[in-house]
Amino acid sequence: MRMTVAAAAVLTMVGAAPATADRPAGPGPGASRGDDFTVVGHRGASGYRPEHTLAAYELAARMGADYIEPDLVTTKDGVLVARHEPEIGGTTDVAEHPEFAGRKTTKDLDGVAVTGWFTEDFTLAELRTLRATERIPDVRQRNTLYDGRYPVPTFQEVIDLSKRLSRELGRPIGIYPETKHPTFFQRQGLALEPKVVEALNRNGLNRPGAKVFVQSFEVSNLRWLSSRLRVPLVQLTSASGAPYDFVANGDPRTYADLVTASGLRWVAGYADGLGPEKNQVIPRDAAGFLGEPTALVRDAHRAGLTVHPYTFRAENQFLPADFRSSVVPAEYGDLFAEIAAFRAAGIDGLFSDNPDVAVAARDDRPAA
Ligand code: G3P
Ligand code: CA
Repeated sequence: MRMTVAAAAVLTMVGAAPATADRPAGPGPGASRGDDFTVVGHRGASGYRPEHTLAAYELAARMGADYIEPDLVTTKDGVLVARHEPEIGGTTDVAEHPEFAGRKTTKDLDGVAVTGWFTEDFTLAELRTLRATERIPDVRQRNTLYDGRYPVPTFQEVIDLSKRLSRELGRPIGIYPETKHPTFFQRQGLALEPKVVEALNRNGLNRPGAKVFVQSFEVSNLRWLSSRLRVPLVQLTSASGAPYDFVANGDPRTYADLVTASGLRWVAGYADGLGPEKNQVIPRDAAGFLGEPTALVRDAHRAGLTVHPYTFRAENQFLPADFRSSVVPAEYGDLFAEIAAFRAAGIDGLFSDNPDVAVAARDDRPAA
C-alpha cells in the first residue's frame, strides 16, 4: 500500500514502522466487489449455534461463507483459543463448575470493571473441561439446544477445520482471526501477537495469497503485525469511543478520527481493510431508521482500503426499523433488505451471524 506524504509524516510522529515492502498490497479499490463480495461467518454461524465453537464455524463454511471468524484470547499457558472476550461466564458453563468458583474475580478490562472468570487464569487443560453455551438465550432460544455440547476450540483447531473443510468442499475456507483486547493481554505478559504470527507461520499461512485477514480494534498491535505478516490486515472501528491502546497511551484520537478521509489514508499505511460498525456506513435516525450513507466507503476505497462492516443479523433486535417484522426482538426481520441497502452503499463484504442469508443475498437467489 502506497503511503501519502501526510500519512508518512504522521507515522514518523508516532514512531511506528511502515508496512514492509514485501507485504502484499491489499485488495484495493474495486478489487473485491461484485462477484468477489466477501461473506464472513461472524463467530461462525452464530445465529444457529453457540458462537466460537467448531460446530458454528463448520456450519458457516457449509452455508457458503468465504471466511470463518475466530476472535482470539489466550489461556494461562499461552494457547490461543476462540472467545469473544477473556471473560467466559457469558459463553461457557464455568459457573456450574464448583472447582473453579475461586477463580471468579474482578478485573479492569480496558477501563471497565468486569467480574467473572478469565481465560488467562485457566490452563488449556482446565478450559477444556468447560462447555460452550449460547450468549443470548432470550433471543436465540433454539441455540440453547446445543448448550453443553462443544468445548472451547483452540486457534489451531479452527485452522485445522478450515483446511479439512477446504478439501471437502472443494473451495478455500479462509480464516479471519481477530486479536481481542491486545493491550489487556500485553500488560499480563501474554501478548497475543507473537502467537498469531507463530501460528500462521507454522501452518504455512503467512504468505501472500493465503486466505487470511487479521483484524483488531487496536492500532499499535496491527502496526506491529504489519511488518511481520504478509497477509492483509483490517482495522476495526466503532461508532463511538477510541482504540484502547490510544486511550492507554494518551493519544487523543478516536475511531471517528480514523474514519475521516485523512484518517483512512493514515490507516492505509499499515492496513489493507477497514471493518467498521455498520452504523458508520449507514447511520440510523433517532427512531432507528436508516439514513443516508456516509462518505466512509468512498473515502476508504480512495485510500485503497476494502470495507467489511459488522454485524448483520436476522433478528429484529439488530435490524434497522425499516426492516423489522414486528416488535418482538427475537423474531426475524428482512435481513435480505438490510444487506441490499448496504451493498448499494458499496461495501466489499460483511460479517454475518447468518451467513446462509448473506451468501444467498450475494448470489441473488433464495436462501437454501
Ligand atoms: O470483527 C468484526 C466484528 O466481529 C467486531 O465485533 O465485537 O463481534 O468482535 P465483535
Ligand atoms: Ca470479531
